[in-house]
Amino acid sequence: MQSSDDDTDQTYGYFDDQNYEYVITTPYTPTPWINYLGSNEFYGIISNTAGGYCFDRDPKFRRLTRYRYNSVPLDSGGRYFYIRDENDFWSATGRPATTQLDQYSCRHGMGYSRFNASKNGIATQVTSFIPLDTKAEIHSLVVTNHTQSTKSIDVFSFIEWCLWNAEDDGANFQRNLSTAEVEIEGSTLYHKTEYRERRNHYGFYSVNRQLDGYDTNRESFLGPYRGFDRPEVVEKGQANNSFARGWSPIASHHLKLELAPGESQSLEFVLGYIEVSVDHKWHSKNVINKQPAKDMLTRFDSHEKVMDELGKLNRYWRTLLCKFSVETPDDKFNRAINIWNQYQNMVTFNLSRSASFYESGIGRGIGFRDSNQDTIGFVHMVPEKVRARILDLSSTQKFDGSAYHQYQPLTKKGNANIGGNFNDDPMWLVLSTTNYIKETGDFSILQEMVIYDGQEQATHDHFDHLLRAFMHVINNLGPHGLPLIGRADWNDCLNLNCFSDDPNESFQTTQVGASDVAESVMIAGQFVLYGQEFVDLCQQVGKIELANRSMKHIEKMRKTIEQHAWDGEWYLRAYDSRGKKIGSHKNSEGKIFIESQGFCAMAGIGLNDGKVEQALRSVDKHLATDFGIMLNQPAYSQYDKYLGEISSYPPGYKENAGIFCHNNPWIIIAETMLGHGEKAFEYYRKITPTYLQNRQTLLKTEPYVYCQMIAGKDAANPGEGKNSWLTGTAAWSYYAATQYILGIRPVYQGLSIAPCVLPSWKLIRVQREFRGAQYSIEIHNPHGLSSGKITLSIDGQPVEGNVISSSSFNGQHTVIATMV
Ligand code: BGC
Ligand code: NOJ
Repeated sequence: MQSSDDDTDQTYGYFDDQNYEYVITTPYTPTPWINYLGSNEFYGIISNTAGGYCFDRDPKFRRLTRYRYNSVPLDSGGRYFYIRDENDFWSATGRPATTQLDQYSCRHGMGYSRFNASKNGIATQVTSFIPLDTKAEIHSLVVTNHTQSTKSIDVFSFIEWCLWNAEDDGANFQRNLSTAEVEIEGSTLYHKTEYRERRNHYGFYSVNRQLDGYDTNRESFLGPYRGFDRPEVVEKGQANNSFARGWSPIASHHLKLELAPGESQSLEFVLGYIEVSVDHKWHSKNVINKQPAKDMLTRFDSHEKVMDELGKLNRYWRTLLCKFSVETPDDKFNRAINIWNQYQNMVTFNLSRSASFYESGIGRGIGFRDSNQDTIGFVHMVPEKVRARILDLSSTQKFDGSAYHQYQPLTKKGNANIGGNFNDDPMWLVLSTTNYIKETGDFSILQEMVIYDGQEQATHDHFDHLLRAFMHVINNLGPHGLPLIGRADWNDCLNLNCFSDDPNESFQTTQVGASDVAESVMIAGQFVLYGQEFVDLCQQVGKIELANRSMKHIEKMRKTIEQHAWDGEWYLRAYDSRGKKIGSHKNSEGKIFIESQGFCAMAGIGLNDGKVEQALRSVDKHLATDFGIMLNQPAYSQYDKYLGEISSYPPGYKENAGIFCHNNPWIIIAETMLGHGEKAFEYYRKITPTYLQNRQTLLKTEPYVYCQMIAGKDAANPGEGKNSWLTGTAAWSYYAATQYILGIRPVYQGLSIAPCVLPSWKLIRVQREFRGAQYSIEIHNPHGLSSGKITLSIDGQPVEGNVISSSSFNGQHTVIATMV
């Protein structure tokens, strides 16, 4: 299936579903359109012109290569290959050399990117990936001579080393310019800065062929005051064999190729990372132990071996994506669910909000709230990783049930400088855990012993962590009996206790005083929703008394919301520190917010008396646009210290009336709960990238992944995207589409089926791997319904209700669900 007819705007690219690729057809996309390499610990971000960098685990502390965020020109630093043919030279990845190519394409695939270029009859193909279980980027370069004559071609590779700590690397120049050290042996250029002191790791860049020269000193390679677009060495066609001592170390190989007409030659480049135990650091005085690097290189010393590794990676992805696949009448829906949304889910799970084109990799580690939510889009793919992540998050919880807002992946310790006090944090742990158990049936996670606050002496089972999360809300109620908001709830920018008028103060780190009493309706709804999940869990594990006790808290919260949080046509958002309403028709700006509508509706508060229906109508009326649902309206037009960062943004951007895609799925789910299949779908397609191909020029961000924010109606360019890739939108959209639109939802007893779809979808086929069994599910919709009752049969036998019970099945099963 190629792109369908209405994808007429292919200015920058199109989908190739057969290969699970997005094909970018120009190096000059509106922003760098990136992909991620790596699926475990070692990662790279790579743009459509090979810009970006790689790192081991932590993009702040273990960054191998240098990248210049927000640079001029855009997207500076990457894995570059300069091809030189007589006096002409160009980049095999389209940039940074500015020479116009005869042909260019970049195919971003699942864990790899492939760049095709040709110029003057010389074709190149660079395939970049990180093999499974390997701490190295591979760049396989194939050069082909399509001319009638023999060609002498020069190839120059190029990467620039980062001095490991990416933050210092961009700031501490008085030190940095003196510390760099390299070694060179054969065709391998080693980077060993700080290895002589406290580091037990080094990097290397190698190629499987004898060199005709090399460079390790940047200025020597580039020439004075030149950019990456026309290095002096490339221009003159000969490396300088420079040896870096301090300044800015790079690695560049020079290779001369003789190519007969029609001949292809391949070069396998390996950009690797090695950790050595303290006892084995040195080969001899000041000479590093290179053996582990050499061992690694033997795995990639031929084109066949490299392609074999790529094959393994492809199979790994195909297998993962097969765990859930769907066939509906809508290609774009299928493409989102079967390929790109799942792919993005893995990336957000792995990287949280740390490294993208918008997240610099130095500011934010693994977010407690973000990562718990990310699991809901990923748990069906690699449940073991989700289990481990949940336990890591749990161990950064504090004894009172609150949590560190973030932790660094390298240490797994909570970040003290950010701290805690974001009062929505605790309950997300209940979401991730219950959702994990429903997917896997693995209750044993509850018995895992987990420390509190990173301290060994405070160890309890994981269930205790959930209980403390629950109680944290109850122990922190405000004047109306609603949960205290703390520094902020899900909306980081609603800083009701911050009162900052100092421009030098960060909103994210201002502390909350003891008397700060602002309350959050979003947390109240979240508490009812996930509190109910906690109660169900208690019942599952036989803690009936605790379940009953907890239920009373939930009932009370429900009443409090009904009493104090209904504004007449929608739910209020909050009470500020002075007891004033936020998100009320009485406010002149910020009258209505999306978050409390989403959470109160998903929690079913007011489901029976029409409040949910009314709240959703208000969302549609006041917040919905052609590009998605805005966060709030009317936008705040001026800064108000009683509101904080939200009012710092110009109207239409980010949390100030932007379309914050993350919470659109909350409304989608709520609409399905009312059986509104068409409305749910309308909202779904407004933000889902597979439907936005015609908007790629306006959108600007990668049209194959969700972005965090699309500019709202008050912005200069409504519909323009920002902050692509690392957003909770990915997991939530997937969760909404699979569990609420398709309605295939793991429950404790098995898999429940309750679709809420477009009436025009008459037949839906789903392949679902679930707790070791393989289900082929057909949903028949002969009467063109949106939702309602279904009849169910498994392997030809009718079943009562709508749950496929997992206890009695292994192997392969056919499920027929008919909407009646
Ligand atoms: C952004 C939020 C983000 C927060 C994280 C704010 O500037 O607007 O979207 O969650 O920073 O630190
Ligand atoms: C982005 C943050 O990563 C997330 O934690 C937060 O909920 C949203 N911004 C909204 O402020």
